[in-house]
Amino acid sequence: MSMNNPRVAVVGATGAVGSAMQSILASRHFPASEIRLMASERSAGRVVPTPWGDVVIENLATADPVGIDIALFSAGGARSREYAPRFAAAGAVVIDNSSAFRADPDVPLVVAEVNDDAIHAHHGIVSNPNCTTMVVMMALGPLHRAAGLRRLTVTSYQSVSGSGKTGMDVLAHELDVLGKDRELLVHGGWPDPDGDLYARPIGYNVLPHAGSFTEQGYTDEEWKLVHETRKILDAPDILIEPTCVRVPVMVGHGIAATTFFSRPVSVAEAREILGAAPGAELWGDNKVPTPLDCAGRDEVLIGRVRATVGEEGGISLWTVGDNLRKGAALNAVQLAELLL
Ligand SMILES: NC(=O)c1ccc[n+]([C@@H]2O[C@H](COP(=O)([O-])OP(=O)(O)OC[C@H]3O[C@@H](n4cnc5c(N)ncnc54)[C@H](OP(=O)(O)O)[C@@H]3O)[C@@H](O)[C@H]2O)c1
Repeated sequence: MSMNNPRVAVVGATGAVGSAMQSILASRHFPASEIRLMASERSAGRVVPTPWGDVVIENLATADPVGIDIALFSAGGARSREYAPRFAAAGAVVIDNSSAFRADPDVPLVVAEVNDDAIHAHHGIVSNPNCTTMVVMMALGPLHRAAGLRRLTVTSYQSVSGSGKTGMDVLAHELDVLGKDRELLVHGGWPDPDGDLYARPIGYNVLPHAGSFTEQGYTDEEWKLVHETRKILDAPDILIEPTCVRVPVMVGHGIAATTFFSRPVSVAEAREILGAAPGAELWGDNKVPTPLDCAGRDEVLIGRVRATVGEEGGISLWTVGDNLRKGAALNAVQLAELLL
């Protein structure tokens, strides 16, 4: 294996995350000696121009993993469960974007610039956290290090690209269909846009649950926020109250968080810590970051840092980040850089 000039595979290369991975590998001048692109048999055979030359997309089901040093997986959990162990057995280090291995105690769950050191304990597979957890960790990681996070109430406002290319197609379609007659949106009687990706239409709407319902009335996305936050911060006792909401935004997950620490934290201290947080940008109070501001950007944006007004001593804040970049592809590439 050569980790100076590794041979890299992008698995799920035609997807929203896989496409972002390719452009981020290129823009960060990742020193790959070769790049291989893999997807389903639907895409196999297509030729994709890359900075490493034209690459023919391979069918994951028949691709030979021998010779790959780093494999960036973003083709869904089922593909990760089936193929990631095979790629690892063939000598690759797999950086996996799905939730397949995130809870596995033998698999590090790493947010670059928050818990980098955890990556070195890998046994061939490293997990990239969920995109919502990733964004909020960029603010909470530094605060936790300074003051010890004890309690967290967190509500996400998640964009449709979190559901991949299909999510973006569905939103564009529904905005088109429902937007044709504003009166019906105001008074009722809107036409059913006929989608089945989400339980209800997402165009001109807000869905008070992202993901699928699992235990205790919470969704899998909400449980990811609980379990992944505790694992990343190595703090199994943090109390977390999560709500995940889907909003009609193309790219950019926003998260509102109210936090309490092992001691009171002032706004001045929080702003000082967050202003120095790597990979994040703290915005002033009269300039509030929104999903449109973060789309296409690497930095997670932080704003509305304020003191809690019910119980004193805590901090409430807002973070928003590009779920396809820091929430997925950028972090995966940063983890690959940590392996070099
Ligand atoms: N979107 C996000 O914000 C985000 C964030 C973090 C993690 N993730 C995770 O990343 C993964 C991909 O998400 P995405 O948003 O990029 O989805 P997407 O746009 O729907 O892309 C899915 C990718 O998986 C490939 N694929 C699907 N079925 C396959 C099969 N049977 N064999 C091989 N390849 C197959 C697709 O190839 P074809 O084009 O050939 O079908 C495509 O390249 C998921 O596990 C998701 O949970 C997504």
